[in-house]
Amino acid sequence: MSVLPVSPAHIDLAVAALRDGQLIGMPTETVYGLAADADNPAAVRAIFALKGRPADHPVIVHIAGAQQLDQWAQEIPDAAWRLAEAFWPGPLTLILPRQPHVPDAVTGGQDTVGLRAPSHPAAQALLQQFGGGLAAPSANRFGHVSPTTAQHVHDEFGDALPIVLDGGACDVGVESTIVGLAAGAPTLLRPGGISREAIQDLLGLQLQHHKKADTAKVRVSGLLDSHYSPRTPLITGAPERVNDQARLAFERGERVALITCGPAAPTRGIDQAALAAEPAEYARQIYDTLRQLDRGHYQAIYLQLPPATPAWLAVHDRLHRAAHTRLG
Ligand code: TXA
Ligand code: MG
Repeated sequence: MSVLPVSPAHIDLAVAALRDGQLIGMPTETVYGLAADADNPAAVRAIFALKGRPADHPVIVHIAGAQQLDQWAQEIPDAAWRLAEAFWPGPLTLILPRQPHVPDAVTGGQDTVGLRAPSHPAAQALLQQFGGGLAAPSANRFGHVSPTTAQHVHDEFGDALPIVLDGGACDVGVESTIVGLAAGAPTLLRPGGISREAIQDLLGLQLQHHKKADTAKVRVSGLLDSHYSPRTPLITGAPERVNDQARLAFERGERVALITCGPAAPTRGIDQAALAAEPAEYARQIYDTLRQLDRGHYQAIYLQLPPATPAWLAVHDRLHRAAHTRLG
């Protein structure tokens, strides 16, 4: 596989590969995507095979902007147009009734489609030149930590991908916010790069919350309880509790690492990664940190949970699902 810096010539190569039915690694502002021509069912099926993802989990179709919305969706409510106008291009995915031509491979056989216009300049250049939609889940093996650099994509797939466009480290660092608009009141299906409050303010309403009971019906793999996980057991909890448990494990002779939210803990001898105590910067750091520590041959990674405030909602959601053990 070649990791190629973004340039007009490399965008040309990527577009040619996509037209040829191949998969590519694509930078977006949230996380890197594993992209295929959304109109080519065989290419989309190859995404599932490479990721090891169950075939009934739908993938997001990436488009250049709101002007392409009605090529993929129908019965588009006013709220969808307003959200697209306010937040696209950007980290927001809208779930809408699909147009009949959208392949089942994309929608997991559901009658809805997820649409997002990414803002990363390379993703925009690719989409403008390609013309069509790009089906792209995060470029990681199913259930694993999402990639925020081209190197992460390479670490996941080695030579199985012909091209990964290297657009640098992702600006947002966690996946897009997903809003369900296909039926009933707008629903927050996954918190992400656009805050719940910003969406509620724009629409002048409270978003409904996705209920667990609905999971069987609306298959959002990011809602599986175990997802975004490093291979090393990840143990999360309130800072004090986590510090104590990490210290006890260390004193038992275990090889452990500690991820703090804010300054490192005064715990001698334990390897630590001190992340920002601010949600946007923390989001940019967390997946890379988990990946780095995952290579450190630790028996466990302990992680101090950030405060449970709205600004941390997306980060909390990912940490909750990434955790193997949640201390009270
Ligand atoms: O930021 C992002 O959204 C990244 C970048 C690459 O755009 N993509 C991403 O894709 O996170 P993925 O496949 O890892 O997660 C997309 C989520 C999945 O949980 C999927 O089930 C859900 O979106 N989804 C896609 N289409 C859907 C649909 N029609 N109905 C319900 N959920 C859908
Ligand atoms: Mg994913």
